[in-house]
Amino acid sequence: MKTTIAEVSKHVGEEVTIGAWLQNKRSSGKIAFLQLRDGTGFMQGVAVKAELGDEKFQEAKALTQESSLYVTGVIVEDTRSSFGYEMQVSGFEIIQEAKDYPITPKEHGTEFLMDHRHLWLRSRKQHAVMKIRNEIIRATYEFFNVNGYVKIDPPILTGSSAEGSTELFHTKYFDEDAYLSQSGQLYMEAAAMAFGKVFSFGPTFRAEKSKTRRHLIEFWMIEPEMAFMNHEDSLEVQEQYVSHVVQAVLDHCRLDLEALERDTSVLEKIKAPFPRISYDDAVSFLKEKGFDDIEWGEDFGAPHETAIAESYDKPVFITNYPAEIKAFYMKPDPDRPEVVLCADLIAPEGYGEIIGGSQRIDDLELMRQRYEEHGLTGDAYQWYLQLREYGSVPHSGFGLGLERTVAWLSGVEHVRETIPFPRLLNRLYP
Ligand code: 4AD
Ligand code: MG
Repeated sequence: MKTTIAEVSKHVGEEVTIGAWLQNKRSSGKIAFLQLRDGTGFMQGVAVKAELGDEKFQEAKALTQESSLYVTGVIVEDTRSSFGYEMQVSGFEIIQEAKDYPITPKEHGTEFLMDHRHLWLRSRKQHAVMKIRNEIIRATYEFFNVNGYVKIDPPILTGSSAEGSTELFHTKYFDEDAYLSQSGQLYMEAAAMAFGKVFSFGPTFRAEKSKTRRHLIEFWMIEPEMAFMNHEDSLEVQEQYVSHVVQAVLDHCRLDLEALERDTSVLEKIKAPFPRISYDDAVSFLKEKGFDDIEWGEDFGAPHETAIAESYDKPVFITNYPAEIKAFYMKPDPDRPEVVLCADLIAPEGYGEIIGGSQRIDDLELMRQRYEEHGLTGDAYQWYLQLREYGSVPHSGFGLGLERTVAWLSGVEHVRETIPFPRLLNRLYP
């Protein structure tokens, strides 16, 4: 009977056939240990000369890395491996013999691995990171569906920018100019006025010449938007959502976290509520810590964020930034209009900002004024202003960067390993 590695626990004591690739092998005169992978998991196959016969055993010993096979054998429990099962190989059929697979068990440099990303994805750690990514996506849909949100898909081709025009990829749209979306937010605000609580999940593009471990040119963002919710309500949604995702990864990705040697004790602590610190207090804190390079009114860089995050063992919200350094649509604090009702959520362990969010301006006149101050003239945003004209309500939303969240939960250093085919400043291949 045909099965997969993920399903072998249901077949203990039975003879099954699995389509697999040979990841690695070790052998002696009488026994060969075949490290098999089939996409759904990783398992050892044990080939014994006395069982297979001389000829077949020699064939097993000669198997090359990444050759594809149908392997047949009896599934047995194996308490020594954390997977818990192995196969006693009774036979195999080679589908294709792979010659000179470029990624050998020895160490390779990052550029080499990135050039072979289409193959590197097969390796144990890369597989684990993608499984964690998949679990975060699954838990995201679960969280928002259970809580009454409607998934809405904003467009990717847009006629204007959402945040600022410097980071946009330009293209032609027949005779018009068009841009790749850098955020679906403005459209999600329209959707919130139609459906109440909505979320999007899609690719976003930033033509930013940043070359850091936290920046991708193309990345995926989850953008919830909620009518009748103020900034504080939104922070509660954010901490509940992030806690849910962390718990889901802990519950469903045990072997993947283990393959990545992730310290899960730090993830166990990630439970709502999360601490909050105001931008004002963050500036004072940084000055006390000896950062002389920061003045009130300036944005934080990665070292600042890391220094703040180090004081907590949970993600921390930095709230109420100066209006000057934030997007035009953020609602000013009524008691202190020089700051806005916003927060960035900073992950622990130096993974940086994973969420940016705010309450949005709901007053038509103020929004018009902000527009003009930002030099946003013309008709491109008429529809956005109309949302403030016909039954405007308080509303808030946020955007969570998927890859930074994957990096944090997986414990991988650089976001380039958190997306199947990364687009970086100097990389569009493969
Ligand atoms: O802070 P950002 O730019 O916020 C927005 O785009 C809002 N319109 C979201 C909203 O309120 N609906 O981006 C949100 C998150 C960041 O916190 C970060 O996690 C991620 O997106 N992000 C990036 N991830 C990888 N590479 C980049 N270049 C990123 N830029 C932002
Ligand atoms: Mg941000």
